[in-house]
Amino acid sequence: MKALITGMSGFVGQYLQAELKKCGYDVAGTCLPNEKHSDNGIYYSMNVLNEKEIRNVLTNFCPDEIYHLAGQSSVALSWEKPKFTMDINVNGTINLLKSVKEIVPNCKVLIVGSSDEYGVVQPEECPVNEMHPLNPVSPYGISKVTQERFAQIFAKAYDLNVVLVRPFNHIGAGQARGFVVSDFAARIAEIEKSSKEAVMKVGNLHSFRDFTPVEDIVRAYVLLLQKGRKGEIYNVGSGVALEIQDILETLISYSDKHIKIQTDVNLYRPIDVPIVKCDNSKLKSETGWSVQKEIKETLLDVLNYWRSK
Ligand code: GDD
Repeated sequence: MKALITGMSGFVGQYLQAELKKCGYDVAGTCLPNEKHSDNGIYYSMNVLNEKEIRNVLTNFCPDEIYHLAGQSSVALSWEKPKFTMDINVNGTINLLKSVKEIVPNCKVLIVGSSDEYGVVQPEECPVNEMHPLNPVSPYGISKVTQERFAQIFAKAYDLNVVLVRPFNHIGAGQARGFVVSDFAARIAEIEKSSKEAVMKVGNLHSFRDFTPVEDIVRAYVLLLQKGRKGEIYNVGSGVALEIQDILETLISYSDKHIKIQTDVNLYRPIDVPIVKCDNSKLKSETGWSVQKEIKETLLDVLNYWRSK
């Protein structure tokens, strides 16, 4: 079986490549022209906004499965670059699916949405399942709802073999700054290396998120293209919501430094989702998936990653 990962040079792509290889797939990936990537693996240069480049990759590699990870994944950045976020996430997916229809119409495609599509959810409505109404409150969330809607109608109209996922927050070593755990861990690592006063800036500590180790997330993706049903949407997340304050305290507990916390209004979002928690029963019952790695171990992995940078 041949699997293509769009955006393989990114954080999740690296873990997904390893998981697919472990499962015996022939794997290739795409990265942007001129983008740095590891020497490990086969890379095609491709921008999802360039249909010709997509067609070339599909014609050359002829995948049985595509994991569509290429996209703009930062909620914070989506407030600074809403048009860019819509363009990559929506038009990029349209371009990919149009090319799949023309060149590899029987290929299975995993479309990666987000729990940010649910937007504002009341605490008593948690955990949310796939039927929960979508109420996105960020440009990123809107881009993912729109991407998902396009994928659904394309799949229906052209009988494409598409499975849709809504992953909740995922974390691990190698994630870029711009996501809360990486941001906090990178700041702690900087403080540890510096002789300056140990003051750490943070944004909103009172939101709750459902965090899952990235290794478990990519395992769910592979299982879903093997066992998930065509046209269906699956939540992917642990089912446990933690307050950001708890995440911060755990990360700080791994350091010998006495770190003072300072809230910074610049790190607050114009609108923030207060709570989200995953109902993962559909994923579990249809694939047998469960979380295998401890979240605290992953938090330490992320901190050690930034210490080693
Ligand atoms: N990034 C960041 N940096 N977030 C902070 C900080 C900080 O310094 N301080 C507090 N926060 C808060 C944010 O305001 C938010 O409430 C929470 O931490 C989580 O922020 P992110 O890690 O940026 O995640 P997100 O929930 O907005 O989006 C992530 O999860 C989605 C799934 O729900 C991203 O990984 C998306 O790509 C993903 O789809």
